[in-house]
Amino acid sequence: CGIVGYVGGQAALDVVVEGLRRLEYRGYDSAGVAIVADGGVQVAKKAGKIANLDKLLSADPMPRTGTGIGHTRWATHGAPNDANAHPHRSANGRVALVHNGIIENYVALRTELEAAGIAMTSETDTEVVAHLVGQQVEKGLGLTEALRAVCNRLEGAFTLVAVDSATPDIVAAARRNSPLVVGIGEGENFVASDVAAFIEHTRQAVELGQDQVVEIRPDGVSVVTFDGNEAEVRPYHVDWDLSAAEKGGFDWFMRKEIYEQPRAVADTLLGRYDSDGALTLDEIRISEAELRQIDKIVVIACGTSFYAGLVAKYAIEHWTRIPCEVELASEFRYRDPIVGPTTLVVTISQSGETADTLMAIRHAREQKARVLAICNTNGSTIPRESDAVIYTHAGPEVGVASTKGFLTQLVACYLLGLYLAQVRGTKYGDEIATIMHELEQMPALIQQVLDGIQPVLDLASEFADEPSVLFLGRHVGYPVALEGALKLKELAYIHAEGFAAGELKHGPIALIDHQLPVFVVVPPQGRDMLHDKVISNIQEVRARGAKTVILVEEGDEEVTPYADVLIRLPRVSTLLQPLVATVPLQVFACELATRKGHDVDQPRNLAKSVTVE
Ligand code: G6P
Repeated sequence: CGIVGYVGGQAALDVVVEGLRRLEYRGYDSAGVAIVADGGVQVAKKAGKIANLDKLLSADPMPRTGTGIGHTRWATHGAPNDANAHPHRSANGRVALVHNGIIENYVALRTELEAAGIAMTSETDTEVVAHLVGQQVEKGLGLTEALRAVCNRLEGAFTLVAVDSATPDIVAAARRNSPLVVGIGEGENFVASDVAAFIEHTRQAVELGQDQVVEIRPDGVSVVTFDGNEAEVRPYHVDWDLSAAEKGGFDWFMRKEIYEQPRAVADTLLGRYDSDGALTLDEIRISEAELRQIDKIVVIACGTSFYAGLVAKYAIEHWTRIPCEVELASEFRYRDPIVGPTTLVVTISQSGETADTLMAIRHAREQKARVLAICNTNGSTIPRESDAVIYTHAGPEVGVASTKGFLTQLVACYLLGLYLAQVRGTKYGDEIATIMHELEQMPALIQQVLDGIQPVLDLASEFADEPSVLFLGRHVGYPVALEGALKLKELAYIHAEGFAAGELKHGPIALIDHQLPVFVVVPPQGRDMLHDKVISNIQEVRARGAKTVILVEEGDEEVTPYADVLIRLPRVSTLLQPLVATVPLQVFACELATRKGHDVDQPRNLAKSVTVE
């Protein structure tokens, strides 16, 4: 969910609604605002996207100035209808409150409130908190103290933001296991789920820690822990500029972000190596001696980031000879994983807030593993709780389906693998200079793919009505196939599967039917048997009637007889091929979905940053 709070002299309603618009990628099941003005608190909320709230606000205006909070929801408890939309109010009407997360003990708290005669108006866990805070302010506590007192009774994960009509110049907010940042302005201050909500107004931000409560007033900010002690906070400067979070002439953020990939990859490589090709990753705060003792790497991530992790395994094991596992974050800690002080856990997260990933690294740290985060979001929770960070420099990614986030994660994984190889002096160390040189060429090669994308656009029109599409690859082409299928599912709502091409004959080949589109990523020619094996796999599906779309490097004609459609890729080494091979698949899914009339920036049921487990 996306959360905004504002105190200051601007029209609070406009600031909050605009902030919500910028956070809409965090959830778009419903949206709502509360404004404290004229001695009362007014709430407007509506199921569906912010556009529906806009309509409500034009039909039924509310005060624009005052103090405001807002929320855009990704539903957990209760259907995405008007009643369950946030803000929720306390029974006495004084408090309005928004929430991201899950209150695990809400049933017990609701029973207690119902016994005290309070009737619930929604099915949410959030409403319970609004009533509890209402009771505390009624008893005479200030809003911030009231919120703190209630937080100490809550179990689960939550960001809460509240206003009280009796203290019109205050917004109080709290966080446990769920994101919240503070924006520091002049005569005005902000709280939000992420900085996108307020970078239009200020670039000064403060990161809140776990179990902290913040009070923002027009003239200042104070932060205390749930225990009531003054908290230390870390201020930081947001270097994303506003234009980076705007569409800049594109019709969709996703399309813009696909076209930003050459730059994003270049930015992620910037300053990582000297003229001799020696890598320096200064964000790594684990000593080289410790890195030399690492005997196992576990990569943990979700969604698209997980597929970046699958690519990382091939590269890291090849270059470093350290065994590397890749695990879905949501599975990791629940299977009693074997990790310890000589394990390096690598987490990959664009947002830095994914709850599954966060919980997994907490578990890893409890087992004394060292944790290195690959992350795109400065000030987010996962890097803060890690021993080391490699930031990707993709800039803000607004489209819910990750594109430039993924490519820059791949770059960071390669850099990590090369760095470990360098530090440990493995036998593949000689490859480092060559690969670094090749990485430097990547922005231009990705641009080349984008410049020649027309055949993929044509294909998207041709396949717009297909009910099912398969993607095949081997080695690093396998995660690319998985990502190609995921993109199509996410955006076009088409059944799509990615398979390891060699595994096809062990079952999935039964799916092949007359004219079924099958995309195949062909590895570069030459170095090993892999290429020829994939050609055989293509023949297997082709013989059974599939329509083959072959992604293959320029100059490779061996495959031509078996291809219905050829998509040409620049020549690169096998391990780096995902950087060029993924791009046509992103474009294909984006185009096909827009041709079907879907919202590619905000696909149904998804959210960009999922802060619940
Ligand atoms: C959500 C998004 C996916 C994303 C995944 C992991 O499910 O919809 O696009 O890949 O989270 O996100 P992260 O921010 O941790 O990379």
